[in-house]
Amino acid sequence: MAEIKSVQITSDKNICEVLWKDGHESRFHARWLRYNCKCNKCKPPFSGVYTVDELQLPEVLNISEAHISRDGTELRASYDGDYLPEHESRHRASWLRAKCYCAGCLETKINQRDVISRYLKNNNRKMREIPTMDYQEIADDSNQGLFKLVNNLVEIGFCRIKKVPSESGMVLKVARKIGCIESTSYGEMFQVYARDSENAAYTNQKLPFHQDQQTHECSPGVQLLHAIRFDDCVTGGESLFADLYEAIEILRKESPQHFKTLTEVPVLYDTVDLDGISPRFFECQKYHIHLDYFGKIVEVNWHLGFNAAPQVHEKDVDRYYAAHRALLKIIRRPEMQYRFKMDCGDLIIFNNRRMLHAREAYEANGGIRHLQGTYIKLDEMKSKYVTLAHQLNISVVPPKVGNRSSF
Ligand code: OGA
Ligand code: ZN
Ligand code: ZN
Repeated sequence: MAEIKSVQITSDKNICEVLWKDGHESRFHARWLRYNCKCNKCKPPFSGVYTVDELQLPEVLNISEAHISRDGTELRASYDGDYLPEHESRHRASWLRAKCYCAGCLETKINQRDVISRYLKNNNRKMREIPTMDYQEIADDSNQGLFKLVNNLVEIGFCRIKKVPSESGMVLKVARKIGCIESTSYGEMFQVYARDSENAAYTNQKLPFHQDQQTHECSPGVQLLHAIRFDDCVTGGESLFADLYEAIEILRKESPQHFKTLTEVPVLYDTVDLDGISPRFFECQKYHIHLDYFGKIVEVNWHLGFNAAPQVHEKDVDRYYAAHRALLKIIRRPEMQYRFKMDCGDLIIFNNRRMLHAREAYEANGGIRHLQGTYIKLDEMKSKYVTLAHQLNISVVPPKVGNRSSF
């Protein structure tokens, strides 16, 4: 329980210094405190939305007074020229301590949230065991089973669920247990089987490692594929996964200059077909490795199939290709791969903003391989993880999931 020992204002009246009973020191800026006031006027409980009008506050905001409430649980501060008469901003001690933005606290928070780096550091992935569950574990709406599933997604990046009834639409049912469906131009649910199609996934050809829908500004978060038919006579068609974060960490260690290049020189993805049956025009320039404000990897992108001609400055072309080649070599290392063959009824679910997936070519030999797929939003998955943990009384830190944000 965070307890405040004393508070004081700096001589320029811009910062409130809080000394905690455990010896920690926090510094809160006047504006930061005032805008985040939790009083009933500034953050009405019925809406929970801040109503502070910053333009009604003076250009230079000074703290006139700061003190601890009599019961010791709240910091209160007033400001010269506040537009609300007699106003004191209010901040619970526990909230303030959790939001402390001193260098040490920020670093701790960012590192705690970085579940992916922690997983890569602490787990031996030599065996490349496939995280596997049984449909029965989530079928009865057991939150325990669902939490285990989402936890696999958060930590390892994917999970196989066995014995899902081989009925059409089951993939949507499983997806909706986690979050709302993310629809695309292929609809809510897409059908993966070999046919006469311009989409490589809808053939029996090999699909190299990729993340789906890279031509979009924001590719789908979590992907599900359910084998409703996978006849025994079908040869090939194995599923492969690789963790792009893991590959990138290896690149960072082995060739820091290539790592840096992929954070600085963007790839261009496009798919253009103006005269086809379903005309489309999608293009997006993005970084293979996207760093956030803290220098953390928060988004990774990869799909050879949609690599368009790079549109970058002349000086960057060669270093881009060299870096791209170096990362591809790592991705192709056999030891990077999780590999298995789905059985009929298997459902694979994976973080499409982290994991690469691939498929070996197959021969139908008179049989059928038919997967149904859908997507869920990544933020919904993260929300489900944190709220389920809360319901189950499991202590978790909100995880980094790869949605371009450490928080
Ligand atoms: C896809 C895909 C893999 C498979 O449809 O996005 O990659 O195993 N399919 O068919
Ligand atoms: Zn207020
Ligand atoms: Zn795919």
